[in-house]
Amino acid sequence: MNESKQLQRRQFLKQTLAGAGLWILPSGIVSGKSSPNNKLNIALIGAGGRCTAHYGAVSGENVVALCDIDENHLAQAATKFPGAKSYSDWRKCLEHKGLDAVVCATTDQTHAHVANWAMLRGLHVYCEKPLANTVEEARIVRATYLANKGKLATQVGTQRHASANFAEVRRLIREGAIGELSEVSAWGDRQLRRPGYLPAAGTPPKYLNYDLWLGPSPLHPYNPGYFAGKGPGTNCLSWNMYWDFGSGQVGDMGSHTMDLAWNALDAGLPTSAVATGDPFNPDVSPVELASHFKIPANDWRPAIRLSWYQGGAMPKAPIDSAFRGVGHGAMFTGSKGILIADFGSYVIIPKGTPASARLSRKGVKGGYNFQGEWLAACKGGPEPACNFDYGGKLIEMMLLGLVAYRTGTVLDYDGAAGKVTNSATADALLSRTYREGWPMVG
Ligand SMILES: NC(=O)c1ccc[n+]([C@@H]2O[C@H](COP(=O)([O-])OP(=O)(O)OC[C@H]3O[C@@H](n4cnc5c(N)ncnc54)[C@H](O)[C@@H]3O)[C@@H](O)[C@H]2O)c1
Repeated sequence: MNESKQLQRRQFLKQTLAGAGLWILPSGIVSGKSSPNNKLNIALIGAGGRCTAHYGAVSGENVVALCDIDENHLAQAATKFPGAKSYSDWRKCLEHKGLDAVVCATTDQTHAHVANWAMLRGLHVYCEKPLANTVEEARIVRATYLANKGKLATQVGTQRHASANFAEVRRLIREGAIGELSEVSAWGDRQLRRPGYLPAAGTPPKYLNYDLWLGPSPLHPYNPGYFAGKGPGTNCLSWNMYWDFGSGQVGDMGSHTMDLAWNALDAGLPTSAVATGDPFNPDVSPVELASHFKIPANDWRPAIRLSWYQGGAMPKAPIDSAFRGVGHGAMFTGSKGILIADFGSYVIIPKGTPASARLSRKGVKGGYNFQGEWLAACKGGPEPACNFDYGGKLIEMMLLGLVAYRTGTVLDYDGAAGKVTNSATADALLSRTYREGWPMVG
């Protein structure tokens, strides 16, 4: 069949099958709720490290391509998926013929790039948190997703969202368990202090493509310390606090913990941001940070103040034992009381509770299959909870907090335009420049 006939046939099938609740994946497979047995052709980009936690979920599909800048990690992944073709450059991997979907678990400085390039090629994307490294990146990725809404399935890798406690917290807030909401905070207590970028130390080993690892980021000399993680999914703690590679705990545990609050708020983008923290270090993002956002009212709650605290900064405890044992959590303040939650439990503190009261937390068990939700969506199922609209706005707000921290001023933010309206300095910090060959749109 020539190309134009093929296109006509595809178009015809698309229209006919759309009426039947089915669609055609980029690979040409007919998919849909009624055909869950069709397998997706998936590429794993950043195939070692954290990605190993996704092997189980994707092993029921066709993993046809593996990409990693570390040949040893590629070789290990190939033992699990022996039929897949190996790549070291994700830009080439995305050209693999017949792909339907991509799991991206690379370093943070490439997430938005991989996600955006993949969607521009009609591919579904599961992208590890954080979805972006700058406000502008978050907005580009979200815009590409929204332009393809209904056609592409996306999920930010904030898998804790699937635990039943997230839904329970949302239900309680929506049903008025603490009355009318006025203020919400989320926090994380992880503290990883680093003085600055690591000094040059030796040359990259033969099995590691350091230039591809840097990707869009400015050149920094090689140091094995960036690769010193002790096990899969822990190496991110060796690089994610450096501005050019990540956003520290804002993008790391902040992605998970703010999700606990965000899920219950139906929040739009903030209209203002202000933040304080450690003295500014041009190399390293702050350990201690407190950022505050004004979130506009919506149809079920008034405007609220939403805050993120990390690295020792904490909201004011309503009673003495309020935060005991809650290293990462969220607090919702309402007219009738306060709800404090972590990922698997919560407690309600009614208004007027004495400061010395002892709390009894209620554990909530269960949850759903988070990666499975995305795979089902790739085959025509419902939109995943942490799609790039939901997750894009969340990380946009969190990264705006870092911009406010850097300028040290109250920022007025126009979320529709993605502009800081009262500070050109802050506005310039919403984006970063990339090395040649690594545009966001490619
Ligand atoms: N959802 C979670 O709970 C969770 C847990 C841990 C890590 N993560 C996220 O997963 C990501 C990876 O974390 P990690 O600790 O596995 O990091 P890592 O440094 O081990 O990198 C992961 C893998 O990607 C490869 N890689 C790095 N840059 C690449 C590139 N440009 N192209 C192709 N391959 C590349 C590495 O060689 C490695 O195999 C981070 O963004 C982190 O935030 C999420």
